[in-house]
Amino acid sequence: MRALPDGFLLGAATSAFQIEGLGPGRGETIWDRFLAARGGDDGRVACDHVTRWREDLDLMAELGVDAYRFSVSWARVLPEGTGRVSAEGLGFYDRLVDGLLERGIRPWLTLYHWDLPQALEDRGGWRTRDAVGWFADYTAVLADALGDRVDVWLTQNEPWVAATLGHREGEFAPGGTDVTESLTVAHHLLLGHGIAARLLADDAPAGRVGVAPDVRPGFPATDRPEDVDAARHFDGFRNRWYLHPILGLGYPEDVAAEYLERGVFDAAEGDGVVREGDLALIAAPIDVLGVNYYTTLPVDAARREDDAPERPEGRDQPPGYTEMGWAIRPEGLRDLLLDLGDLVADSPVGRAGGPRGPVRLAVTENGASWSDGPGPDGRVRDARRTRYVHDHVDAVLAAREAGAPVDAHLVWSLLDNLEWTQGFAQRFGLVHVDFATGTRTVKDSGRWLAAVLAERRLVPPGDPERD
Ligand code: FCB
Repeated sequence: MRALPDGFLLGAATSAFQIEGLGPGRGETIWDRFLAARGGDDGRVACDHVTRWREDLDLMAELGVDAYRFSVSWARVLPEGTGRVSAEGLGFYDRLVDGLLERGIRPWLTLYHWDLPQALEDRGGWRTRDAVGWFADYTAVLADALGDRVDVWLTQNEPWVAATLGHREGEFAPGGTDVTESLTVAHHLLLGHGIAARLLADDAPAGRVGVAPDVRPGFPATDRPEDVDAARHFDGFRNRWYLHPILGLGYPEDVAAEYLERGVFDAAEGDGVVREGDLALIAAPIDVLGVNYYTTLPVDAARREDDAPERPEGRDQPPGYTEMGWAIRPEGLRDLLLDLGDLVADSPVGRAGGPRGPVRLAVTENGASWSDGPGPDGRVRDARRTRYVHDHVDAVLAAREAGAPVDAHLVWSLLDNLEWTQGFAQRFGLVHVDFATGTRTVKDSGRWLAAVLAERRLVPPGDPERD
């Protein structure tokens, strides 16, 4: 049974749009607009965290989490995206951060978790280079207000998803369907990261600075050369395109050459989307490289740029899959952290370290969706989630023992919440939420996590009677 090493942080994560609800004064975001057009679940109430935040802080204290990763809603702080700062909106995060610190919980703040103010989308959104400046101004407002109290600042959440699902696949807000647009957006998101990271290094002296890309390792479905090649391309398209520029290695040449040949994107610095000096700007010093990890994917020649899960989502899954259709592969997380440790050590940004020390890895999201609800006795028996979290934290600790520089694991998610286009059907929480009443119930997985945090060791998952 592994102990949690000294200094290792175990906690939970959420994002603003998925839990907060509209509340007073928040401006419209691209997700409000996108979900309204689709019909179905939306973010007007979500978990009503904007009114129930004290209760949620108390729940976190009850679990004993070391750190809590939340995101700030840009449109709550700047309802029009730029210009007027809402004192009420900023005050919400000010109280939230103080409430965390009062309870001994470290605040990890994500600046951008996909919820662009609609007012900025109306001005071209992330397709325009102007977005980089808007993002820098928004970052400066938060650094000024919270720079003395936030432990870790994460600039961007999962830029691949925002760029690709949001601008190429049409699946996520704002619903774009153009490859060139998606790569343009990706470049601006990366630039936003670099510029915000530099600004925070100066203006948020209490905090460390990082970014939270999603990494989905692909492995060749067979050992046929075309599948091996496809898996390599998938890794470039899905992972390296983001990790390499962030770490100062530039856009990966193999993928850049293919995009150029296909006529979809020119990644060379010049007078197009990618300007002279951009890659140096993106390669800002960072202290923390976050990793959001859920699964790995077998890749064959037909799926070189296809991230679809192995199984359709839904409740009916065989063992070994979550209700997202994602295969459960904790060993993939161990291997990934070891690989990323090597990549960081071999990269200019990794070697130089950040403003507050050497680059460390953190699992900034990892979790599982199963829809277990309260039984007749009110208790939520989610043994599969307990097992999932146990096995993944164990994998992280194993990677650390083998030399990976990782020292945090944040479970997605604290609460059942609005899972984007899948609405309230997908439940990732350690805490169950009844969306009709807002009632919270700590699941068995949450109680298990509380025991782990109390004992500082990975207690076995199999004790459902634990209280
Ligand atoms: C990640 C997102 C997060 C949540 C989980 C399940 O891609 O960052 O908001 O939706 O997946």
